[in-house]
Amino acid sequence: MTLEGRKAVVTGGGQGIGKAIALKLASLGAAVAAVDINKKGAKEVAHEIAESGGAAFAYRLDVSDAEEATEVMKSAAEDLGGIDVLVNNAGVTRDNLIIRMSPADWDHVLQVNLTGAFNCIRAVARGMMSQRYGRIVNISSIIGQVGNIGQANYAASKAGLIALTKTVARELGPRGITANAVAPGFIETAMTESLSEKVKEEFAAKILLRRLGTPEDVANLVAFLASDEGNYITGQTINIDGGMVW
Ligand SMILES: NC(=O)c1ccc[n+]([C@@H]2O[C@H](COP(=O)([O-])OP(=O)(O)OC[C@H]3O[C@@H](n4cnc5c(N)ncnc54)[C@H](O)[C@@H]3O)[C@@H](O)[C@H]2O)c1
Repeated sequence: MTLEGRKAVVTGGGQGIGKAIALKLASLGAAVAAVDINKKGAKEVAHEIAESGGAAFAYRLDVSDAEEATEVMKSAAEDLGGIDVLVNNAGVTRDNLIIRMSPADWDHVLQVNLTGAFNCIRAVARGMMSQRYGRIVNISSIIGQVGNIGQANYAASKAGLIALTKTVARELGPRGITANAVAPGFIETAMTESLSEKVKEEFAAKILLRRLGTPEDVANLVAFLASDEGNYITGQTINIDGGMVW
């Protein structure tokens, strides 16, 4: 599996799953733009890639800002020499029960997780269409399939990403562009570290493989979908959850 000569953008690439994806794509030969609202994290990831001999750039971007997304994708395309792969990984949570969830928390999560992906896809689609090649991978979640108490906003955003993915696959497939969603289960990152050991153990007991996933587990799947080996897969949502939801 190789990504030699490919140019990839990873949103939320400054830490966690996005960082693992950026490092994996770079290790397979892709030039990578790590894009994050936290510029420091993106810069550190780009630095790590450069240190191991890869080509990388870092940008600050709040994906929820459509104008900014267009500008940053333009800069990334100039610096990378085009964009072949877009991984929409930036995501946030603002958990609360529906009766306590503020409209602002609802809006924020939808705006970052769902509108953010739309903003970035919209910004790269023309370029991918004219080069008749593209790989779009949206990081959804099993929560978008089964829901979760306290996560109405997050679940809705992640379900929305699945429908967005299917539509992108339909619209852009004839131009040689694939679009797929990846739905992780419980992955050990900053997003899940606030869970107590007891809760983690309870989750692990419900997972067939009896462990939480790692960012690298997710990165391996994303790399496959981004590579030529994943050529004939589009419009799909692939769960990567150690056996939780199917
Ligand atoms: N950790 C899990 O168990 C899990 C499970 C399923 C899905 N996911 C999804 O995977 C993705 C990555 O999650 P993670 O666990 O690595 O989380 P994380 O919090 O460690 O990383 C998220 C990254 O996104 C960036 N980000 C946040 N808001 C942004 C914005 N507006 N614009 C640009 N960047 C922004 C953050 O700065 C951070 O670098 C998310 O979409 C998350 O919903 C995670």
